[in-house]
Amino acid sequence: MANILVTGGAGYIGSHTCVELLNAGHDVVVLDNLSNSSVESLNRVQELTHKSLTFVEGDIRDGKTLDQLFGLYQIDAVIHFAGLKAVGESQQIPLTYFDHNIAGSISLVQAMQRAEVFKLVFSSSATVYDEANSSPLNESMPTGMPSNNYGYTKLIVEQLLEKTSQADVRWSIALLRYFNPVGAHKSGRIGEDPQGIPNNLMPYVTQVAVGRRDKLSIYGNDYDTVDGTGVRDYIHVVDLANAHLCALNNRLEQHGCRAWNIGTGNGSSVLEVKDAFEKVNAVAVAFEFAPRREGDVATSFADNARAVAELGWKPQYQLEDMLADSWNWQKQNPIGYKS
Ligand code: NAD
Ligand code: UD1
Repeated sequence: MANILVTGGAGYIGSHTCVELLNAGHDVVVLDNLSNSSVESLNRVQELTHKSLTFVEGDIRDGKTLDQLFGLYQIDAVIHFAGLKAVGESQQIPLTYFDHNIAGSISLVQAMQRAEVFKLVFSSSATVYDEANSSPLNESMPTGMPSNNYGYTKLIVEQLLEKTSQADVRWSIALLRYFNPVGAHKSGRIGEDPQGIPNNLMPYVTQVAVGRRDKLSIYGNDYDTVDGTGVRDYIHVVDLANAHLCALNNRLEQHGCRAWNIGTGNGSSVLEVKDAFEKVNAVAVAFEFAPRREGDVATSFADNARAVAELGWKPQYQLEDMLADSWNWQKQNPIGYKS
């Protein structure tokens, strides 16, 4: 069993990963500045697992905090979730995104090097693939310039990690390219709690269903897809969390830097998601068609064969599970962790 530092561990994906890490018997230290999360998520992680974790409130850009942390705890590996993720905001305040996501990652990797901790799992995104690729997307396909500054930070961090590992063979780095994380822990105690108006489809759908928003705007119904609406690969957050444990085990044994797609391999359209949500949860979701959103592609889904073969990881949940679990979380926590 290992001692794992989880940056951004109070957030949506981080909190679910902490549950799986603790359940697997690992020790967990969370570093989070709580800029987009609440410590309540970590209270609930501990309540769910009946185990305790260590929480350090701090910023990945702060080298001193990192040095103290690595000095205090014998960290074996780092899972790095911390960063900013609002696509629209990244267009308005690019430097803030470059600072948290790029400079923050450099600061973390430098502190890891000082502490001689060389195992890292990084939260990347399917957004790094060149838009000219057609789905299913596999890891051998070229990356391209993402359509927004958030995506750009993911591409840059992937590249700088790759170069860092080439320069020093002690590094062992996993780049996990997430497709579209949705769902929540079965208990409904932890889940996604976006601040302000949600950018992503699933929290928007659940907030309409719970009465916090009037109706869903479906961005575009004239794409070349099954019903004209955008197709994505939705992946249950618990499956995604488990992919981090598999990547961790792989990296504890191997060296170098390698990318893996984390998706189910199935594409679902926006209308299919909305209809299935209504059916599975017996709740209505009012909607209207709206113009296409800038930067969106028609279709994006994964070829996950590399992760299945090399990480021994396999998604367990179907779309219906994701929709039921998202709704269970939202119903129990209509205003998120503030309730
Ligand atoms: P989240 O916002 O819920 O979690 C990120 C956490 O990082 C938050 O708790 C926030 O307080 C913390 N944080 C932000 N800046 C920090 C800093 N400078 N120092 C310390 N902590 C900081 O987001 P999430 O959905 O859980 O995403 C986790 C990671 O996965 C992010 O890197 C995100 O870009 C990436 N990712 C997310 C998605 C998605 O759809 N949710 C898709 C692809 C990749
Ligand atoms: C978006 C980001 C991507 C980021 C990912 C995870 C853009 C262009 N892409 O991906 O960079 O990595 O989130 O944070 O923002 N949709 C609606 N109505 C809504 C919201 C979404 O119709 O209110 C549609 C979208 O057009 C898309 C699908 O639902 O077809 C999924 O959207 P979303 O959840 O935002 O994810 P991505 O666009 O795949």
